[in-house]
Amino acid sequence: MLRRCRLVGACAIAALVLCASAATSAGQLAPRPTRPQVVPPKGPARQVIFKYCTSCHGIDDYAYYAQDRAAWDTLITTKHRGLDVPFPAADRAILLDWLADRFGPDTKPFPRTYLAHEATTFYSDAEAEAALTRACTSCHDADRYNNARFSPDRWRVVIVDMRERGAKVEDEELERLVEWLGRTKGANQ
Ligand code: HEC
Ligand code: HEC
Repeated sequence: MLRRCRLVGACAIAALVLCASAATSAGQLAPRPTRPQVVPPKGPARQVIFKYCTSCHGIDDYAYYAQDRAAWDTLITTKHRGLDVPFPAADRAILLDWLADRFGPDTKPFPRTYLAHEATTFYSDAEAEAALTRACTSCHDADRYNNARFSPDRWRVVIVDMRERGAKVEDEELERLVEWLGRTKGANQ
């Protein structure tokens, strides 16, 4: 998400990046890859992020990476070369600790390319429950999803993330689960 920018130049760059990924040669809008959603941390790391990082772009893109502290340090430097991103060492250390923990080498990066498509066949309750039991209960129990309430888009992000972690779900199945979970465990239910 683009927010208020400190630098007009940075806005222009960010807008170009967005346009480049959204346009096709035919001039139509390409289907947009599913984007990760990152919940801001609590505590000092939260303050650092809102002070130095969110004036130009949000924090969801952090989820595309799974790397150690040194690689995070390098990435933040290289991505903002030529931009005015002030970042005092003490605050940088706080953020790097959080990034290396939350998006460290042992985590799974969110894929940049998953394209959602519309489900054309739908699960009955029994089919959906069987698919979830098979694919989703080896790491945590069913309460994890049974007690959750999300929009379909958010369910898609969760399941794509679970698949990166090891859940065995084909694309077709994934979209059917998104449809069923969005319908029976939606954000306003
Ligand atoms: C002045 C505007 C600005 C500020 C402030 C800013 N960024 Fe960025 N950031 C950008 C732009 C523009 C890009 C895209 C650069 C590119 O891809 O070449 C970017 C890219 C990134 C990326 C890579 C995203 C991807 O999809 O690969 C990460 C991670 C990132 N920034 C983290 C941060 C963090 C952490 C902070 C706070 C310390 C921060 N940014 C503050 C402008 C900013
Ligand atoms: C390979 C192990 C594994 C499998 C298989 C798995 N999960 Fe998870 N799941 C996790 C882990 C680990 C977390 C905790 C993530 C965290 O807290 O950052 C989690 C968290 C969750 C959450 C909470 C997410 C949130 O944002 O609150 C939901 C919902 C969930 N899983 C649903 C599912 C569903 C649905 C499936 C089947 C498609 C599934 N999981 C399969 C490992 C797995």
